[in-house]
Amino acid sequence: MVIRLVLFGAPGAGKGTQAALLKEHFGALHISTGDLFRRAMKEKSTLGDQVRSYMDLGFLVPDEIVMNLVRKELVDVVKENGFLFDGFPRTIPQAENFEQALSEMHHSLTAVVSLEVEQDLLVRRISGRRVCPKCSALYHVDSLSHGEVCPTDQSPLEQRKDDAEEAVKTRLKTFALQTLPLKEYYREKKLLLQIDGSGTPAAVFARLLSVLQPVLD
Ligand code: AP5
Ligand code: MG
Ligand code: ZN
Repeated sequence: MVIRLVLFGAPGAGKGTQAALLKEHFGALHISTGDLFRRAMKEKSTLGDQVRSYMDLGFLVPDEIVMNLVRKELVDVVKENGFLFDGFPRTIPQAENFEQALSEMHHSLTAVVSLEVEQDLLVRRISGRRVCPKCSALYHVDSLSHGEVCPTDQSPLEQRKDDAEEAVKTRLKTFALQTLPLKEYYREKKLLLQIDGSGTPAAVFARLLSVLQPVLD
């Protein structure tokens, strides 16, 4: 079954965590615009320099930069066995532009899944997040039993720069103002599926699969 999904949700809602599980289950390609920008910053490329000031402070990267990147990625993405966009689109113009680009390639979305998580839990998840610089795996300090090293490859885990308190506040505000309106946009297009994003990653994943079942048949 080919799945073409957008994972929607506030910072810390669990988009990256669920994308990793979905990727394993459906064999689809995972594209996180945030991860692509972080990689560009690490490589100190021109794109990295362009996005750094926005990302570090928790503001959205301008639509034009995002769409240039996504349109380039899409050429290869549509050749794959389905895709999972994580953290994209984030504004109405991005969503409109995305729809246009997909239709030019004779593709459309299966669904947009919104992970619903209340603010307190978002902040708890973000403040305990750790990332492996080597394999990009995501962890939370509460579930690490052998210190802050990656259980897979023993690399010392890192914290994201935009997980600092001030940047988190800005990201949450930015989400509410600029990204949340997309829910209505996708609801009108009858693509929106909402699920409770609280509980363990496995519990959320089970809800995800069950809500996806009808659209996959
Ligand atoms: P991005 O990287 O997309 O960050 P975000 O949207 O803020 O989301 P996060 O990655 O913080 O959270 P997540 O939902 O992936 O949660 P995770 O699974 O890690 O974007 C970063 C920045 O890039 C933006 O601010 C912007 O500047 C720029 N950008 C990116 N895309 C853009 C676009 N389209 N337009 C403009 N700008 C763009 O989980 C969080 C933590 O909780 C982890 O520690 C995890 O282990 C834990 N956890 C997850 N699920 C559970 C669970 N069920 N139970 C317990 N713990 C859990
Ligand atoms: Mg993420
Ligand atoms: Zn690792």
